[in-house]
Amino acid sequence: MNEKIRQDFPLYKEVPGIIYVDSACVALKPIQVIEAMNEYYYKFPACAARSNHKLGDLATNKVADSRKTLAKFINAKEQEIIFTRNTTESINLISHTLKLDGTVLTTDKEHNSNLIPWLKLAKEGKITHKAIETKEGKFSMESYEKLLQEGNVQLVAINHISNMDGIENPVKEITKLAHDNNALVMVDGAQSAPHIEVNVKKLDIDFYACSGHKMLGPSGTGMLYGKKELLEKLDTFILGGETVKESWIDKYELEDLPFRFEGGLQNYAGIYGMAAAAKYLQKIGLSKVEEHSKNITRKLREMLADFNVDILNPEGTGITSIIPKKMKIHELNLLLSNNNIMTRSGTHCVHSWFNKHDLPGSVRFSTYLYNTEEEVEKIAEIFDKQLKELL
Ligand code: ALA
Repeated sequence: MNEKIRQDFPLYKEVPGIIYVDSACVALKPIQVIEAMNEYYYKFPACAARSNHKLGDLATNKVADSRKTLAKFINAKEQEIIFTRNTTESINLISHTLKLDGTVLTTDKEHNSNLIPWLKLAKEGKITHKAIETKEGKFSMESYEKLLQEGNVQLVAINHISNMDGIENPVKEITKLAHDNNALVMVDGAQSAPHIEVNVKKLDIDFYACSGHKMLGPSGTGMLYGKKELLEKLDTFILGGETVKESWIDKYELEDLPFRFEGGLQNYAGIYGMAAAAKYLQKIGLSKVEEHSKNITRKLREMLADFNVDILNPEGTGITSIIPKKMKIHELNLLLSNNNIMTRSGTHCVHSWFNKHDLPGSVRFSTYLYNTEEEVEKIAEIFDKQLKELL
């Protein structure tokens, strides 16, 4: 799948020989996404939904088309898609507007974006937060059922695929149990939107948050899906231009969905670029992307197993996290960078999991559709020739 795909990514021409394996943080952008954003700036750099002129109309139509594309990408309806800046903002929208007063469950392996908003509410005495255990990276149904039995669970907020180890949570089963217990489900899809086909209706999830920048789209873009009947009931979040139909000096009438949640001038170029990214992925086929992510990760893990490192995840889509037995993680990261291999070292915003396990963090290789088996072999060669004795 690779050679043709790699030609779409200008970075490979700009920096020949680079091995980019930090896609769980930010994915590379294909030319199709860059061109879509440029098209906005070159051809209709106007305000959507407000300015009643030809350029304004073009911008409005492009945003509407983008919403349609992104709704289709996860099998939602257009009114159910709210544009945000990223997954973090999408989750904060929910934590601020759902007005919970019971228990929120997350797993014990969440990105700070899906932990801190709940910890804040717990600190303010508004909710109780409890963590479902993961065992060897995997979601524990036993722990989940036990916490549900304790009662008063209003929301289950879980990642779909972990950004630390690539392990997928059984979202469909989790949702069924949550709904049987009258709880809602919010899924942090930052790592699933790029790698697997997501069908929010089939999964029956209530809210789904994801980012453009991890699925080949521009930074500063994201979206929140919510079931229409639930979005209707949410409190408001950021209010201002375009969030109201009418206002008087002493009152206002809210806009319809989804506009009441999109206050102020939006990132039109970004929205259009994110839709171009979704189209690009759909053209290749998410099942092919997933298969490729799994194969490359497997090969990488098999290769790394020959060295003096602990591999944190026995499986996982697109991510391999390792801890060298002797060397510090940041030193290894730097040496890899010096060899043109871009990995990420640290706790990847999952501090709480590393703290629980008393681990310093990891060096994370996060691959995507543009990585190749040859790159894995190149990494193996560098480990073998330069790093073996130091690890
Ligand atoms: N969530 C991003 C990562 O995992 C920042 O690298």
